[in-house]
Amino acid sequence: MPRRLTIAPSILASDFAKLGEEVRAVDQAGADWIHVDVMDGHFVPNITIGPDVVKALRPHTKKVLDVHLMIAPCDPHLEAFAKAGSDIITVHVEAGPHLHRSLQAIRALGKRAGVSLNPATPVDTVEHVLDLVDLVLVMSVNPGFGGQAFIPSAIGKIRDIRAMVAGRPIDIEVDGGVGPDVAGALAAAGANAFVAGTSVFKGGTQDAYKANIAAIRNAALGARGEAI
Ligand code: DX5
Ligand code: ZN
Repeated sequence: MPRRLTIAPSILASDFAKLGEEVRAVDQAGADWIHVDVMDGHFVPNITIGPDVVKALRPHTKKVLDVHLMIAPCDPHLEAFAKAGSDIITVHVEAGPHLHRSLQAIRALGKRAGVSLNPATPVDTVEHVLDLVDLVLVMSVNPGFGGQAFIPSAIGKIRDIRAMVAGRPIDIEVDGGVGPDVAGALAAAGANAFVAGTSVFKGGTQDAYKANIAAIRNAALGARGEAI
């Protein structure tokens, strides 16, 4: 039985001047999770948002807040993101030498733990933490910015990770350059959670978001052989 198909719009591509409204709009438009990209200007070249913004967004949706930390070090900030109302907290393999400890800390805070790999990072870097994670996030762009081109080698990595997790209750999420054009191949390879910024928020209205989310979902469902 494949894991639940999940569409997670990245609010990085939304209008930051009206974030609460944008979160409510994608929630109403059919988002399963809300993906929050946290960047520190150090681990990645861009700076975005911190725990106070997650806390401010929390009352705007009951959907899962899927918080992607692109920060190093991450450990000093895990508690703040947990208390802010994150449901999933994902840290990067490359963010420090003590990945195992970071994942233990997220679980100890009562949150679902995710681990993410950059495009150049081999899949075996997550092999020994699989029993500590609820989600593996495969980056299909170099993290830091929205609107970049999808890197096709992510498809093979997803296939390898799907084989590696072998029946464990782990979501396989893909992030970067994802739209209806690649969602089918990603779903066929074994991804079940799809982060999408540009391809969801294009059009700028709730109706557009609804059509954009449905297009990604239908492409993935078709590849899984499930009814649309
Ligand atoms: C990249 C972020 C992604 C990004 C996705 O660093 O982690 O979540 O915003 O945006 P698109 O879908 O525009 O590539
Ligand atoms: Zn992300």
